[in-house]
Amino acid sequence: MQHIKQYVEQNKQRLLDELFDLLRLASVSADPKYKPEVLKTADYVAAKLRDAGADNVEICQTAGYPIVYGEKIIDASKPTVLVYGHYDVQPPDPLELWKTPPFEPTVRDGKIYARGACDDKGQFYMHVKAFELMMQTGTLPCNIKFMIEGEEEVGSSNLGIFVKANKEKLKADVVLISDTSMISMEHPSLETGLRGLSYLEVEVTGPNRDLHSGVYGGAVANPITILAQMIATLHDENNHITIPGFYDNVVPLTEAERNALNSAPYDEAEYKKDLDVAELWGEKGYSTFERTGTRPTLELNGIWGGYIGEGAKTVLPSKANAKISMRLVPNQTSEAITKLFTDHFLSIAPPYVKVKVTPHHGGEPAVTPTDSVAYRAAQKAIAESFGKEPIPTRGGGSIPIVALFEAELGLKTVLMGFGLDSDALHSPNEKYDIYNYYKGIETIPLFHKYFAELSN
Ligand code: BES
Ligand code: MN
Ligand code: MN
Repeated sequence: MQHIKQYVEQNKQRLLDELFDLLRLASVSADPKYKPEVLKTADYVAAKLRDAGADNVEICQTAGYPIVYGEKIIDASKPTVLVYGHYDVQPPDPLELWKTPPFEPTVRDGKIYARGACDDKGQFYMHVKAFELMMQTGTLPCNIKFMIEGEEEVGSSNLGIFVKANKEKLKADVVLISDTSMISMEHPSLETGLRGLSYLEVEVTGPNRDLHSGVYGGAVANPITILAQMIATLHDENNHITIPGFYDNVVPLTEAERNALNSAPYDEAEYKKDLDVAELWGEKGYSTFERTGTRPTLELNGIWGGYIGEGAKTVLPSKANAKISMRLVPNQTSEAITKLFTDHFLSIAPPYVKVKVTPHHGGEPAVTPTDSVAYRAAQKAIAESFGKEPIPTRGGGSIPIVALFEAELGLKTVLMGFGLDSDALHSPNEKYDIYNYYKGIETIPLFHKYFAELSN
């Protein structure tokens, strides 16, 4: 532990400067206008892996953005850790809500503010630097492979193809990912599951053209009204989702599992205050942790139609649209849920409108084992560096590649995230504490150490 602390202390400024250089690259995968920056980011990551001591560093082309690969094989008889992360980030919008520009990392109150600071540049880069530390101090105890992709935020569709085509190259004993959150630095935790996702878009069409709302209003259905009415029926008075069959495959948690989840520290007053809401909302009969970690949900992600420009325009629009996503839990599949939604949504369309449902991407839920050597290694690493045993939690977010690693490579994952839910992932003013960044760099070598030791 001493050599770790010392290395971080001696390289403090450089470790931060390099992350800042990475954060200056606007690697937004969703919007083609950022393409040159996304490609530059892949080059930067490859160069840094090389500098840190990785062999066979490659920028692997795909039909979309490239995957950066690198490895250090010290001894074929030793276990191998496959580190996964993503160098792409979410769009920075809405720009006007950022206190400082999203791609000019700025430190305020010990926190780095930038798009991707936590999700996932700040987190995957800890692994690159922890690897450098182990190389420089001669303490790398196992083989390591890196796979850092550039399309996580848009559904990782090309990564699946890459994984299927490179099973030998990606051979490992476990996948290690830092792309999730902890409860707090005082209550370190390890996520032991992720939800799946079914994302789609709906379009409701009324009249064949925009109409004068005075001339036609009252005689023709307004598609915005109809869409709003249809959406309003998707939850019942207990906030259960009303799509027939939606919960059919959901496995109820055991009393013991529920108790374990609910024993994690949680301050409802604090939670509400942080979000400025007077009351929480959710499925009746479940706690907040159960609702976000173990229950499926349906959210409206965006809704538009008609006139939304300056001033007023009296229009009865032809179309209304919404983006809708559902978070899925074990035993639900994105394909089946997408179909259930589509059939249901079409079936509730009144005759005044035409409804179209277009699926986007999906991802499968995953649970990670808590009785594996790798999980124990993560527990020990965190216990040593935080001075506290980590609490197991269930994450509400999705990393679709986790289920894919298991299906294609037979590999289990450890989710050793160092973010906080309050880091504003995907929001304006995303941040990452400098403290967490260094803490991660210090904890990761301990994971490798204990993983190698316990694997013997
Ligand atoms: N790192 C997040 C997922 C996450 C965040 C998991 C916090 C647990 C806690 C990841 O980058 C992400 O945003 N995933 C997307 C899904 C993807 C298919 C667009 C998500 O969860 O919405
Ligand atoms: Mn992420
Ligand atoms: Mn994300």
